[in-house]
Amino acid sequence: MKPTRLSYTILIIIGIILIAVMAYFYNQGENKKESIDKKGENEKIEQSKYNGVDIITNTYEEDTYHKAIHYPKFEKELLNEDIKKYVSRMEQGFHDELSKYNKEALRERPAQLYLTFYIYPVIDQLYSIVFTEESYVGGANSRQSNTVFLVDLKNEQFIKQTEIINDTKENREKLYNLLLNAFKQSEEYSSFLVEEDLRDWIENKDNKFSNMYLTNQAIVFEFDKYEVTAGAAGMPVITLPFKQVSEIVSAEWLDRLKIEDTTNNNEPDESDESITEDKTNQEESTEEDMSTDPSSTEKRVALTFDDGPHPKNTLTILDLLAQHDAKATFFMLGSRVDFYPNIAKKVAEDGHEIGNHTWDHKDLTTLSPEKIIQEVQHTNEIILEATSYSATILRPPYGSTNKEVENSIDITSVLWTIDTLDWQSHDPEAVLEIVKENVKDGSIILMHDIHESTIKAVELVLNYLEENGYKCVTVSEIL
Ligand code: NI
Repeated sequence: MKPTRLSYTILIIIGIILIAVMAYFYNQGENKKESIDKKGENEKIEQSKYNGVDIITNTYEEDTYHKAIHYPKFEKELLNEDIKKYVSRMEQGFHDELSKYNKEALRERPAQLYLTFYIYPVIDQLYSIVFTEESYVGGANSRQSNTVFLVDLKNEQFIKQTEIINDTKENREKLYNLLLNAFKQSEEYSSFLVEEDLRDWIENKDNKFSNMYLTNQAIVFEFDKYEVTAGAAGMPVITLPFKQVSEIVSAEWLDRLKIEDTTNNNEPDESDESITEDKTNQEESTEEDMSTDPSSTEKRVALTFDDGPHPKNTLTILDLLAQHDAKATFFMLGSRVDFYPNIAKKVAEDGHEIGNHTWDHKDLTTLSPEKIIQEVQHTNEIILEATSYSATILRPPYGSTNKEVENSIDITSVLWTIDTLDWQSHDPEAVLEIVKENVKDGSIILMHDIHESTIKAVELVLNYLEENGYKCVTVSEIL
């Protein structure tokens, strides 16, 4: 049939409609993508307690060594470069030392490296980052030191200590007297101070006060062991309140720090809240009793997630769990709960169990009883503060525990029956295979919510468990 003018018109109209429809859907897709991306970014920033700072946690469990590395990640890539360089220098030093040792001896007693940090907000977008490096190679050999970074996020730069205290002879003398005075007044350190060593320290021209950092109220000096005291003092921390140091602080910093001094947040409010919000576990235990009703003949497994919370991955896993009406247990690191209290809170609000995974992932069997208690208590406190929930179970890092550890703490240790090795393989299919081969009624499955690849693994595992009649419950319900 010969095309008429009418059929041409119809064709053109159809063409225009088609183009319009395609353009519409294309735009929708783009908008949707963009809004998801934006949402993701914004959430990430908001969900850290420290604006513009995230925490990266990497743990390694090899047969010759354990490593737990924590470091901050800033929005500004420029700042991250220096931090990363520092972190790899520390790791390289550890591995260099390891290479000098016999592998068999190391397998018997794995070496350890812990790199952790504390973060102190000073004024708006200014933080002190204080790293602590600890390594144990060959048993008795232990090393500990600190490294300070003063980070100005607003101006995207690190600040030198000598910008805060002008490095003049006069100022050094004043600083010496301030420190001497503080040492002498300290109950903890006064008897251990070696005055000549402090004198040497202040007169050393290479000393640029790199062990000095700021909090929102004081200048702090953290000395190495034996640096200015006898070994029994450990690593002494001397705090000089701002009002004491006004004579030695540069004019610029006097100004910057003083401004913030008057607009300081009222911290007492927070601690009041955490006390009044205190809630016991009694409700939880009655709930447990009901769910362990023998009338249910379902096979049950406990999914457990270690080393979090994570600002994105944990939330995605919570969504997946909700879709499958599954409950899980999250063994959290105190250092990460400190960064992401709202993520921890959401986990608790969704009805999952929260367990203690220590503050910074140290091997508890290598610590003194006091240190063990500190690791566990400090973490319980921050979990309670963030979630109003008391953790009643502990998963010792690397599954490493012994009688001494168990006797030091009054909290139940929970290990696992299936190790998915998700942290090593980063392969969702491999994780699923391990679960398929080993799962049975009462299994406790170990995964890590800090790895992105674990999200897909969780999806596969949840589908598999559901298809095979397993119910996902908390670890305490299995116990
Ligand atoms: Ni762990």
